[in-house]
Amino acid sequence: MAKLPKIAFASLDQAPGDVLVVLSGEGGSVPEGLPDAMREAIAKAARIAKFKGKRLAAVDLIAPSGVAADRLLVVGTHAKEPATEEDFLKLGGTIAAKAKGAVTIRCETPEGPLAPAEAARMASGAMLRAYEFDLYKSKKSKKDDEEEKEGDDEPATLTFAVADPDGARAAFAAEEAIAAGTMLARDLVNEPANILGPVEYADRIKELEAHGIAVEILGEDEMRALKMHALLGVSQGSPRPPRLVIMRWNGAAESEQPVAFVGKGVVFDTGGISIKPAGGMEDMKGDMGGSAAVVGLMRALAGRKAKVNAIGIVGLVENAVDGAAQRPGDIVTAMSGTTIEVLNTDAEGRLVLADALWYCQDRFKPRFMVNLATLTGAIIVALGNHHAGLFSNNDELAERLAAAGKVSGEKVWRLPLAREYDKMIEGKFADIKNIGGGRAAGSITAAQFLQRFVNDVPWAHLDIAGTAMGSPSSEYNQSWASGFGVRLLDRLVADHYQSA
Ligand code: BES
Ligand code: MN
Ligand code: ZN
Repeated sequence: MAKLPKIAFASLDQAPGDVLVVLSGEGGSVPEGLPDAMREAIAKAARIAKFKGKRLAAVDLIAPSGVAADRLLVVGTHAKEPATEEDFLKLGGTIAAKAKGAVTIRCETPEGPLAPAEAARMASGAMLRAYEFDLYKSKKSKKDDEEEKEGDDEPATLTFAVADPDGARAAFAAEEAIAAGTMLARDLVNEPANILGPVEYADRIKELEAHGIAVEILGEDEMRALKMHALLGVSQGSPRPPRLVIMRWNGAAESEQPVAFVGKGVVFDTGGISIKPAGGMEDMKGDMGGSAAVVGLMRALAGRKAKVNAIGIVGLVENAVDGAAQRPGDIVTAMSGTTIEVLNTDAEGRLVLADALWYCQDRFKPRFMVNLATLTGAIIVALGNHHAGLFSNNDELAERLAAAGKVSGEKVWRLPLAREYDKMIEGKFADIKNIGGGRAAGSITAAQFLQRFVNDVPWAHLDIAGTAMGSPSSEYNQSWASGFGVRLLDRLVADHYQSA
């Protein structure tokens, strides 16, 4: 893996290293306490470069004499809109991309020092920016190459100079856990399907026990005993057996009802007998992105010792093609007893989730269930790569998710559920069918299908087909897999479901 920066926190009067980063405000202004030589050099450079302190704009200078650093990087923070949590991730990501070596970041704007949480988020953004999936490159990235020429392959050291170092360190402990969860989700999604089958994936999840998460793995026989024939039908065309993994983080009193997260973990989606076209099919190694977000979230909650009881359940299968594969027209009975006509074997995610959702509410009686899935291509047509689709039977949960999306930057957009759409999945030979028929409302009919298996528990479905992978790179994500969902759901839990 790429080398992540080393993060440290110090007081504002910390002597700079090779690079000093200064935050600028409106009009290119800088904090008052800076030495005059520095203020003059910055003012001159700002004039020449037409730098106005705009958020994320930057000017890079040779440090003037009298400043104990080689370089001075001035980064803007000013914008009309107040800064969100995500803006600090972007700031940190921007700095990590521009500054190498021993870097000191003065976390102060002309308006005053940054809050501990803001500095911690900058540090988190810097880590996420440095993430790179280069496991299978015999020669590591170009960046490493250049560094080797200089005989120096050390990762950057970022020292955040803040008003309250202890507070920032405490805030970073939580941020670091969220970043680790996000990077774990990215790793899992980036991993190809030949390496990460259902069994290998379950083994990787088992490693989370080191973080205090209880992990239970169900195999094929156990799922058959539970009558999970919707999930098993998807898996039957693959020589690689399925797994259902149950993760438990107990951070609150035993009596407290848990919150639950459920993920689609199709390690590869060929489409099955309703096979997909060849072009772009390689992206279907990421069809376990929903499950990866659940795994990453559990890692984050455990890492920051969140005071909540949380369940994570992932259904891990491969949707493959061979003589044993499920056929269009097959009828399966889900664990709930609902019979399903499988009219298109490529609408497999909902079949996996049907049993995982039913099992989750039946066994754990959660306060709510949120499921994540790379469920439909149609959600990309509707929302592109910038919002995940949100469907819910509960307005309060939906509103809380939308609010968490706005602050975290992992945005969601609600689409409707309604009787009329539910009618579209009524079966001809069985209770329901696994496609709506035709092109109309493909993401909604998929959500209606899932709703049949939630049994009136407050529930939300996030269709992350457009956001889990392949979204444009950003200040804090340069990887194909984004880890979308970890930060969003961590914020949901932190804001509403933790005990004091
Ligand atoms: N995994 C796909 C959805 C998908 C598409 C995810 C593109 C990421 C990028 C899902 O299993 C699927 O194939 N859905 C079908 C449903 C259709 C057969 C009703 C689709 O979207 O075409
Ligand atoms: Mn499919
Ligand atoms: Zn799929």
